[in-house]
Amino acid sequence: MNTARMAGSKRFERLSRREINREVYVNELPELGLIVMNSPGDPRPSLDIRSGRIVEMDRRDMENFDAIDRFIAAHAINIDQAEHSMSLDSIEIARMLVDINVSRQEIMKVFSGLTPAKIAQVMNHLNVVEMMMAMQKMRQRKRPYDQAHVTNWKENPTLLAADAAEAGLRGFAEEETTVRVARMAPFSALALLVGSQSGRPGVMTQISCEEALNLRLAMKGLATYAETLSVYGTIPSFLDGDDTPWSKGILSSAYASRGIKSRFTSGSGSEALMGYGQGKSMLYLEIRCIMMVKGAGSQGVQNGSISCIALPESLPNGVRGVMAENLVAASLGLEVASGNDAMSSHSQMRKTAKLMLQMLPGTDFITSGHSVMPRKDNLFGGGNFDAEDMDDWHVIQRDMQVDGGLKPVREKDVLAVREKGARAIQAVFDYLGFPEIADEEVDAATTAFSSDDMPDRDSVADLAAADAFLESDLTALDVVKALDAKGFKDVAEAVLEMQRQRVLGDYLHTSAVFGDGFNVESALNTPNDYLGPGTGYRVEGKVWKDICNLPQAIDPVKLVCEEASDPNLILRSVGTAAPGECLEVVVALGPAYASVMDGTLAGISHAEALRAILDGIESEGVASRVVKVWHGADLADIGLSGAKLSGSGIGIGLQSKGTALIHRKGLAPLNNLELLGMAPNLTLESYSALGKNAACYAAGRAPSPVPMKIDNMARLRLIVHTTLLHHREVNQIDKNRGVEEMKAIFP
Ligand code: 5AD
Ligand code: CA
Repeated sequence: MNTARMAGSKRFERLSRREINREVYVNELPELGLIVMNSPGDPRPSLDIRSGRIVEMDRRDMENFDAIDRFIAAHAINIDQAEHSMSLDSIEIARMLVDINVSRQEIMKVFSGLTPAKIAQVMNHLNVVEMMMAMQKMRQRKRPYDQAHVTNWKENPTLLAADAAEAGLRGFAEEETTVRVARMAPFSALALLVGSQSGRPGVMTQISCEEALNLRLAMKGLATYAETLSVYGTIPSFLDGDDTPWSKGILSSAYASRGIKSRFTSGSGSEALMGYGQGKSMLYLEIRCIMMVKGAGSQGVQNGSISCIALPESLPNGVRGVMAENLVAASLGLEVASGNDAMSSHSQMRKTAKLMLQMLPGTDFITSGHSVMPRKDNLFGGGNFDAEDMDDWHVIQRDMQVDGGLKPVREKDVLAVREKGARAIQAVFDYLGFPEIADEEVDAATTAFSSDDMPDRDSVADLAAADAFLESDLTALDVVKALDAKGFKDVAEAVLEMQRQRVLGDYLHTSAVFGDGFNVESALNTPNDYLGPGTGYRVEGKVWKDICNLPQAIDPVKLVCEEASDPNLILRSVGTAAPGECLEVVVALGPAYASVMDGTLAGISHAEALRAILDGIESEGVASRVVKVWHGADLADIGLSGAKLSGSGIGIGLQSKGTALIHRKGLAPLNNLELLGMAPNLTLESYSALGKNAACYAAGRAPSPVPMKIDNMARLRLIVHTTLLHHREVNQIDKNRGVEEMKAIFP
């Protein structure tokens, strides 16, 4: 074969332009750390304890420990448990993870005594479905939630407050913002706080910015949690950020000591990306990170590759490895905000497939950032899921009876809550003497799609005021005063309650969030108690009702019009139909035809459809008769009943919803001559062509098939209508009435 002359495949050419082929895929290159799991460079597990001290771990003597090994050996491994845990076969531990008879507590105990290499080995045994089964059990909090990203390109505080309020209404338990211009941080934190509490009291908020500034803002009471305490699995990556496991541990304690919930951030790929993968698999290095988080005493971690997600996804096993890191964190007893935040694919199908790994089993936060605004306003580099994906999210929850942390909302409620958030921040700015927020800004923020809909502010003045706010003694308590003085009593109370909760500290527990009424839900008081079917978190009661309550969902009977007869067609019974003898086509109608229904699914009136068929028959010089089949609603039965009465043996069956066929006496019921099965696609021309063709068959001439319009989505749009209308036809069945001859009158 001369391949040189062969043209390229048009299909391959078209496929090459699909979203999925706009990504980069590479083969593994372990030397550079471009390998997700099971690198040849990963150590094999081992542990040697002497006098209560780890002297060798994962084939490395303590003299050769790097600082991460040292931290893990000193703080992250339960010495009393280690000997037993390490003696278990890794496959045995993997099986415990999926065994519904082994509790979360037992697994956590085993994991507390494992080394990083051993944990990596356990994960290597699990496929993704097993990881999901395990995650369903190992998630710390009983109920999963979701975290919002709230930012906008113009860094407009009014829009930020409105979006934050909407996020609260939608059910997000945490809201995170970040800044384009670092000096804007105090105002963004303030707007997020005021907006979120206008939407739902108890939503926790944070601002992702430089850590010292972050801590200052939190201590002012403008944030309730912190999340971006980054750790890395190799020392040189750490040093790039001027950090060590100890410095991060101290920072974490600083947050906690001021009543600020904190979690770390880590995830596959960061070390390789920074040039220090050291030949290890991404998962092995990430397990070291998670163990440092544990050792530092933090309650949780945001992991799942996070900002690096595209890197593991370029490699084999990427999505599986990322799920493994979420599972490891949960198995070590940590709260997990499980990624799905940074853009992970051009392909919607691939994004959703990845999401299911966390959404179906449920994690503490399905995403560690889900934009409530459109993508371009997401200052985290464009979100993976954003405002335009909300409805898809709701429908998936409803499809699978799964709680992804969000609930459908009504437009009027959204507008109300956005306006409230915008007015509240306007009031605070006014009271504290910050640059004015005009009424037009409030209106624009209430109804905005994106920051394009917002007027520009004087950013020089805003930044100067934000600087002064940071340097001043003003705190969240002054915000409370402002809200109270300006009539936002409930928002004032919520912001004040947030400060009180900082002192109580209950939300510092693992996986803690505030449910309704500032009730803490955490791994301590509402622990995940999944132990197989019938246990654990079930989507039921009010949550299920909320999930089902899509604004788009309507009462099915409203989909189709009321029962009606067609005034332009009178069918007068002239008695039981008798077999004919002449050259004729018998048109057999469904029992509801023109009596309780007046048109087809395509919106053609019954009079017009029948008229077209009869005219078509007549145009071929053949006679016709009309009968009504009362004993059934099945199209083949209707058509064959007509054919059996026909002098020529040819009959047309026509259901009331418009589906039609040509049948011949003697054929098997389902073996008709021609079927127009997609009623929504039929036109008057189709019906007239059907009449002509039936007449041709009757006269012994060979017709060419009726041309058909193709609309592959018609069934999708109209299957409920079809069901309802067909039900109406079935209701008219009268077994005893048989087949009646009808005189068709077109008044
Ligand atoms: N490892 C460590 N830190 C990460 N972050 C994001 N991805 C990772 C990762 N894989 C942190 C960084 C970033 C913030 C959004 O989260 O600090 O600035
Ligand atoms: Ca986040």
